[in-house]
Amino acid sequence: MSRSLLSEPLILLLLIGTGWCVLKDSKIEALYDGSVLQMPLTNLASSEPFIKQITIAPSSNTTFNVTNVSSSASFIIVQVHTYQYNVTLSYDKDHLHKVSNRSVFGSNIGLYVKAGSSIVTQLYLRNDNLHLVDAIAVAIIYNDKAPVPGGCNMEFNTEIAPYARLQLQDTMVVFDTQPASIPFNDTVKPFCDKNPVEHSMYQMFITEQDFSPESYFIAISSMLTVDDIVENGRKVSSTTLLSPMRKVFSAYTGTGSVYVAVATYGKLSTAYVPTFSYACSPVLYPESCDVLTDTFPKFICAGCFFLGLLSVCLGHYHLPIDQSLPIFFTSTILGYMITQNIGWALLIGLFGMILWHCFRVCFPILGLGLFNISLGFFFTNVVYFHAPDSFIILQSNWVFWSLFASMVVLISLIMMSLHIVACVVSCAIYSSYMMVLPLDYWVGSSLKYIIINVIRRATVDGYQDAIISPPTQGKDIALICLWVLLAAYRCIKGSVSG
Ligand SMILES: *[C@@H]1O[C@H](CO)[C@@H](O)[C@H](O)[C@H]1NC(C)=O
Ligand SMILES: *[C@@H]1O[C@H](CO)[C@@H](O)[C@H](O)[C@H]1NC(C)=O
Ligand SMILES: *[C@@H]1O[C@H](CO)[C@@H](O)[C@H](O)[C@H]1NC(C)=O
Ligand SMILES: *[C@@H]1O[C@H](CO)[C@@H](O)[C@H](O)[C@H]1NC(C)=O
Repeated sequence: MSRSLLSEPLILLLLIGTGWCVLKDSKIEALYDGSVLQMPLTNLASSEPFIKQITIAPSSNTTFNVTNVSSSASFIIVQVHTYQYNVTLSYDKDHLHKVSNRSVFGSNIGLYVKAGSSIVTQLYLRNDNLHLVDAIAVAIIYNDKAPVPGGCNMEFNTEIAPYARLQLQDTMVVFDTQPASIPFNDTVKPFCDKNPVEHSMYQMFITEQDFSPESYFIAISSMLTVDDIVENGRKVSSTTLLSPMRKVFSAYTGTGSVYVAVATYGKLSTAYVPTFSYACSPVLYPESCDVLTDTFPKFICAGCFFLGLLSVCLGHYHLPIDQSLPIFFTSTILGYMITQNIGWALLIGLFGMILWHCFRVCFPILGLGLFNISLGFFFTNVVYFHAPDSFIILQSNWVFWSLFASMVVLISLIMMSLHIVACVVSCAIYSSYMMVLPLDYWVGSSLKYIIINVIRRATVDGYQDAIISPPTQGKDIALICLWVLLAAYRCIKGSVSG
C-alpha cells in the first residue's frame, strides 16, 4: 500500500494544476458544418503539443488545416479526443465512413501525417451524432529519428495506426496497439520482422467517480507527450505470456483511467494516441457506472452494514454467534465463486455457518482451524490486491491457486498458535470490513475490490492476464483509516472485557 499511498493524490493535484494551465489559455473554438480549424504548428517542439479545445456541431463535417510545420519535423500525430461520443477523422473528404482504410472512428483517435509534403495538410472530421460534442484537437511533431507509432500495423484498418483500441470485456479493460517501426522515409523502408523498437505502457487514474468533461480533458492533456506520460503515468510492467502489444487491466467501474503506449528506439521515444475509459458509459448508460443497481444487492449491502455495526458495538469473541460472522462471510464469498448467484451464495454461507457450529461442538480443534482459515483467506485476498504485476508466474491458474491455498493454510497455522489473539483479530477485521464495505460502495472507492478481484480471478475467463493495480486515492485512504479505527476499537473492547 505504501507505494502509492501518498504519491498518487499528490501527483493528481500537480497534474490538475499543469493540465488546467494548458487548457485554460486556449479559448474554446466552436466548429460548425464546413468550418476550418487552423492548426499552425509554428516553432512547436515535440515537448509541447498543440492543444485546442473545440466543440463540434451535431451532424457536421469540418476540416483541419495543419500549417507552418517546422522543417525539422518528420511527421505529425494529429489527434482528436472527444468526451464520450465517437467521431471520424479521415485523410480524404470522401472517406468519412466509420470503417475504411483512410479514416479512424472513435473517441480517442489520431492519424499519422507526413510533414513537409505540402504547406497545408488537410484532415477531415465528421460528427455523426445528434449531439454537440466537446473535444480537444491535438497535434504533436516528431523528428526523423523518432520511431513511428503503429508503423508496423498488421491488424488495424489504416496503413499506419498510432491509435489504440480499447475494449471493455466483462470485468476487464483490454488495450491493443500496433507495433511501431523504426524511422523511415522514401529510401529507407520500415522493416518489421525483427523489430528493434521497444514498447512500454503507462496508466493514470483520475479521481474515482469523477465524470466531468473538465477532468477528462485535463487527464488527456497531461498524457500526450512522452515527458508528461513518464512523469504522470504509472509504468505497467511487461508481461511475456500475452502478445507484447496487448495489455489487460482489471476494470474499476466508475474510475476514469488514461492508457497510453510509448515506443522507444535509440534515445528517442514517441507517444501513441492516449486512450481513456471509465470502465462504464456515464453519458449513454449512467446506470452502468453504479456497481450496485438492483434492489436485492443494495438490501444485502445494508444488511452487511448493520451486521458489522452490531458486531463492532456488541460483539465479543467469546460469543459463538459473533465468531461465526467471519465463517459466514467467507463461505458466502466461496459460494458466490461457485454459483455466481447471490441467493445461493447466502444459502451456502448459512450452511457453512451451521456446519462450523457442528464442528465447533464436536471437534473444537477443527472448528478453530476453519475459523483461522477465514482469516487466512482474507489476508491472502489483501496480498493479491497488492501483488506487483510483474509476478508473471501467477498467470498460470494452477500455480496461482496452489500459492493461494498454501498462503491461506500457512496464515491459518500461524494463527492457530496464537489462539485468542487470532480470534480477536479475526472478529475485529471482519466486523469492521463489513461496516466499511457498504460505505465503500456508497462513496465509490476501491476497497471492495479486495474481495471482488479474487472472485473475478475465480470466475472470469482470461482474468489471469489482468493487471490488478488498483487506484489508491483520498477516499480509499479515509476508509482505510476508518477501518483501522473500527478494528482497533473492536480489538480493545474484545480484550478488555475478555
Ligand atoms: C485550408 O487549406 C486549404 C488548402 O490549402 C485552403 O484552400 C483553405 O483556404 C484553407 N482554409 C483556411 C481557412 O485557411
Ligand atoms: C506561418 O509562417 C509564415 C512565415 O513563415 C508567416 O508569415 C505566417 O504568419 C505563419 N502563419 C501562422 C498561422 O503562424
Ligand atoms: C463508440 O464506438 C464504440 C465501438 O466502436 C462503441 O462501443 C461505443 O458504444 C460508441 N459510443 C457511442 C457514444 O456511440
Ligand atoms: C483501401 O481500401 C480500398 C477499397 O475500399 C482498396 O481499393 C485499397 O486497396 C485499400 N488500400 C490499402 C492500402 O489496403
